[in-house]
Amino acid sequence: EKSGYKHFMAKEIAEQPVVIADALKHYTGGGVNPALQLPEGVDFTGVDRVMMVACGTASYACHVAKYWFEQIAGLPAEVDIASEFRYRDPVLSEKSWAVFVSQSGETADTLAALRHAKEKVAKVVSVVNVPTSSIARESDLSLPILAGVEVGVASTKAFTCQLTVLALMAIKAGLDRGRLTADQAGELLVGLRNLPGLMNHALALSAPIAAIAEELAEAQDVLFLGRGAMFPLALEGALKLKEISYIHAEGYASGELKHGPIALIDARVPVIVLAPRDALFDKTVSNMQEVMARHGKVLLISDAQGVAEAGHGVWRTLTLPEVPAALAPILYAVPAQLLAYHTAIAKGTDVDQPRNLAKSVTVE
Ligand code: F6R
Repeated sequence: EKSGYKHFMAKEIAEQPVVIADALKHYTGGGVNPALQLPEGVDFTGVDRVMMVACGTASYACHVAKYWFEQIAGLPAEVDIASEFRYRDPVLSEKSWAVFVSQSGETADTLAALRHAKEKVAKVVSVVNVPTSSIARESDLSLPILAGVEVGVASTKAFTCQLTVLALMAIKAGLDRGRLTADQAGELLVGLRNLPGLMNHALALSAPIAAIAEELAEAQDVLFLGRGAMFPLALEGALKLKEISYIHAEGYASGELKHGPIALIDARVPVIVLAPRDALFDKTVSNMQEVMARHGKVLLISDAQGVAEAGHGVWRTLTLPEVPAALAPILYAVPAQLLAYHTAIAKGTDVDQPRNLAKSVTVE
């Protein structure tokens, strides 16, 4: 069932263009002009806030979505990890939505968090991969991400499908709240539709990424940096690397570097900078130069323009296609996943069954 791939993780990384295209077809129709076809209950009229709750990779998808709900829809959005949320006294309004994101739909903490929020919010919404799961069944409204079965313990295609569905929700919120015109929404939808093609370009970088991974495999510590919606992606890149290669990795918002972590930088520490050429690019590049001044080994992941402007003198570069700024986190997930995958291969660890981890965490 690995369809010729060495690992489920490799297969699932490679499947992303197809499953995302399928999910988009489901939610935006198959016609030339995409049009939102979300379930009727996805109506943000009168909603004052979305509170998103999840664990691990799914929580990083929520963090990206927070930027989207704010930017695209002007809708206040918050994120919490389920193991904290369930024991807090979250102040929830009757006009807010609680959104639970989970691949398995069975994560114990996320399910408990859902029960904790029920009755306190206008609507409990879930974004799940398994439509028959407990979390899906106990929600008022559940949106399947349609990623297909995910076997690899490290979540890959579920992450990008979660992002895709959350992006569609943010676009719907933008329309419902009068923040987006139909044309602007249409542009974002076309941008989403173009993602599978761009992801194929990113997947084609597998060989250069494998070469970089040979060297990454020697590292003790790796830092991932990003700004804006690329910050949560830095967290996700670090988690992926930790869990399958067992290399210590941390993700930071680029601007936080000088508040502590820069003390870690020396010639042995690879720093992976996720920086599409967007409005925040120059800021991130200046943080990157601070790393280089301390002999950190920078891998710059950007587009052609970004690499041309800032790639000089860095340790390595990876060039991705240009992508609308808002959607970059979905595309940049691919090189982050491939880096973790190839580093684990170089180290000889068990990619699909990393030590100490279970696919579905059904106990607290
Ligand atoms: C990381 C990973 C975990 C899960 C987390 C939540 O690769 O897979 O961090 O994302 O355990 O699981 P679900 O999404 O099933 O609730």
